[in-house]
Amino acid sequence: MQNWNRRDLLRAIGATSLSLGLSSFTSPLLGEIDNTAAPEDIRRLLFNENPYGTSRKAKKMISQNLDRTNRYATFHKYDFLALKKLIAEEEGLQPENILLGHGSFEPLCWLAIHFGINQGEIITPSPTFDVVGNFGRKIGAKIVPVEVDSNFKMNLEEMEGRVSSQTKLLTLCNPNNPTGTSLDTTTLKSFCNQVSEKCPVLIDEAYIHFLPNWKTKSMASLIPEGKNVFIARTFSKIYGMAGLRIGFLMGPAPLIAEMESKFTLGFPGNMPNSLSVAAAMAAIQDKEFVDLSRQRNERGRNQLYTELKNLGIKYLESQANFVYFDVIKFKEFKALMRKNDIVLAGGWPTKSNWARVTIGTEKEMDYFVSKIKDKAWM
Ligand SMILES: Cc1ncc(COP(=O)(O)O)c(C=O)c1O
Repeated sequence: MQNWNRRDLLRAIGATSLSLGLSSFTSPLLGEIDNTAAPEDIRRLLFNENPYGTSRKAKKMISQNLDRTNRYATFHKYDFLALKKLIAEEEGLQPENILLGHGSFEPLCWLAIHFGINQGEIITPSPTFDVVGNFGRKIGAKIVPVEVDSNFKMNLEEMEGRVSSQTKLLTLCNPNNPTGTSLDTTTLKSFCNQVSEKCPVLIDEAYIHFLPNWKTKSMASLIPEGKNVFIARTFSKIYGMAGLRIGFLMGPAPLIAEMESKFTLGFPGNMPNSLSVAAAMAAIQDKEFVDLSRQRNERGRNQLYTELKNLGIKYLESQANFVYFDVIKFKEFKALMRKNDIVLAGGWPTKSNWARVTIGTEKEMDYFVSKIKDKAWM
């Protein structure tokens, strides 16, 4: 009988799922992706996670709170109200401006329901990581995608032109996923000021921490100025806590109260779990970890740019932890990467030949670069 090791076994499982058609799929959020690599070999250059893990301080907080997993995250110094208070202090807001969720995904879906119900019209950029648009479509919202301009920047002029009395929400993502492009802060601020007079504006800032001096580039300061603006943030990216599922939405207090009441019924058990809440409190205060992650990411990006340049591959300068590049034959490229146990994203409908790779560890990037040098896909 053949002597199988764990690796062979996992490959066989992968092959079985392939034959069952379970292995690769098209995600409206990630384009065409492939999920077949054996878990222990896989290079996860797909989800824009922090490849260096979670901050040591956040992990310590988790271990210190392990005895509280029998409790909801309430009546405690590390409970959801304490987290809201801490976020508010950091952002110059009030706790009433904060709505917590399981990742930012959840409050983004809530926004889609809140504004998209009854065929509500929502304007979104394209391509983008469009939780609101994709979820909105499922509940019958009228989604109006506006293609990025020739520099792959969100087309603000065109988006503003589409706003009508029917528009219930306009969404932006800064820096944008998958393009990695970001908008000039002054331009974005004046856009938000102007457009939020006509309809609420959401800015998804999942990747804002990758910008140097990110706080000066966030649109959160528009909230205390009374603007009709929402900001989504997550602990899944630079904070390295994707598996803990915690994020939040900031916005005008009355709308946040309405949404919290509607979607959580004000029940503390509908808040994120006690470990992720405690870890988030430590993570926010661990500025060193955020700075270090930003620096490491920048090094990885530069390493990749050099190689892409050498190979003559067109790419976009990224302001986030992923790079978008033109592979001309995306299907062939994806297949080659898959053969080498690399998973990445790409093939969004309007940019079908572009791929998005997450910046991994130095070792992962060396490996990735060694594989893109294989000309088989070019
Ligand atoms: C722009 C953007 N927003 C939101 C999310 C959702 O992240 P999470 O639900 O993990 O907070 C992602 C995840 O990749 C993202 O790229």
